[in-house]
Amino acid sequence: MCYAIPGRLVKKDGLTGVINYFGEERSVVIAFQDVKEGDYVYAQGGVLINRVTEREAEESLEAWKELFFALKKTDEEMAKVKRMPGNIPSNILEVLQKVNLGKELERKDLLSIFKVNRPEHLKLIYDTANNTRQKVQGNACCVHGIIEFSNSCGNDCSYCGIRSGKNLKRYQMSPDEIVQLAGYAVSEMKFKALVLQSGEDVFYDEEKLIYIVKKLKEMGILIFLSIGSREKSLYKKLFDEGARAALLRFETSNKELFERLRPGTSLDERLDLIKFLRETGYVLATGFIVGLPGETVDTIIDNIFLTKSLKPDMYSFGPFIPAEGTPLEKEVSPTKDTVLKTIACSRFVDRDAKILVTTALETLDIRARKEALLAGANSLMINVTPTELKKLYSIYDNRQGTMDSDIKGQIEKTLELLYSLGRAPTDLGTQR
Ligand code: 5AD
Repeated sequence: MCYAIPGRLVKKDGLTGVINYFGEERSVVIAFQDVKEGDYVYAQGGVLINRVTEREAEESLEAWKELFFALKKTDEEMAKVKRMPGNIPSNILEVLQKVNLGKELERKDLLSIFKVNRPEHLKLIYDTANNTRQKVQGNACCVHGIIEFSNSCGNDCSYCGIRSGKNLKRYQMSPDEIVQLAGYAVSEMKFKALVLQSGEDVFYDEEKLIYIVKKLKEMGILIFLSIGSREKSLYKKLFDEGARAALLRFETSNKELFERLRPGTSLDERLDLIKFLRETGYVLATGFIVGLPGETVDTIIDNIFLTKSLKPDMYSFGPFIPAEGTPLEKEVSPTKDTVLKTIACSRFVDRDAKILVTTALETLDIRARKEALLAGANSLMINVTPTELKKLYSIYDNRQGTMDSDIKGQIEKTLELLYSLGRAPTDLGTQR
């Protein structure tokens, strides 16, 4: 199994380069400097992370050759918008025409989409988003591994099941345990990108985090941090040590709601940190929770536009799901269609973004992974945290996959799904 196709570095210009994959060229940021033009390399999330020997590359390319073109064909076929239902309201048709012409959508366009409820109309919207994804991003689908290494958190967010005020069994993996698990995920499961996620846990100080990043860097992978609002200087040091991607959601664009749900923190500070991450050079994933209690469709639309204004490489958002023992435990989740509409609208306003299908969406409905991939999404994560710890990382209730200890089985199921949709479980970087 392989989560990246090797390509040849055909151009290197300082920190950026161009990789050729079976004739397709993609630009990348170069995180691994020990490469020259002509080398075979791996990229993830638009970042060149490692060099591959000629022999390994040729073996892998031989295995990929037929599949690569077959998958592309399947995707092209599946992403055609085949059936146009009658009686489509003219305002929706106009919006979709704008999308097809590559025009920018305005707030009122997104409002029209959010008002749609008839299944055949929704299908047309999702199909159009899928078509846009195929045209702009092709069939590459990032498959990153995620390690939830600590459920200790210094914050007391009202929505979150691992908030500091909750009585919960806490765990903190030691740096060596994290490195060992990452090593296993890379060597045995062939992950080329790993997200390291935790509560906001200062137990992991500069020394520990640098140790982890240094060890993971030796594995030649994309190191993706998801450690919350930590000091800028810490993020900068971790970047200098080799971390290249960061996931930090702003959670909600509603300032008042943000400050109410996240006591002692402010939206402006959060946004400032997110911008800092991008300026530092991190591949940026950001987004929000869909449908927090107190949000309206207007807030969701604000959230989409705010995400876009942060110029992320990847959108990460999932539905609010109540967590037992939190002040919001009796509140309700948004519907699956609200989340699928959010995916489609994000695709429409930010055509070449990567959009992640999150576990929270799959928790709402197990079939949603496939539906999301057919509504504009093109990124997935597979949880590689040991089952007994994963259960304790209870940010919300009944998390999908928490009891499933068969990670290899999950990988196989994921690949089966991706192949059936004509998606290449890889990351070819940014299309030129
Ligand atoms: N429902 C959905 N998502 C949640 N998160 C935290 N609590 C919940 C919840 N109840 C999300 C936050 C955080 C991410 C790790 O988990 O967006 O950034």
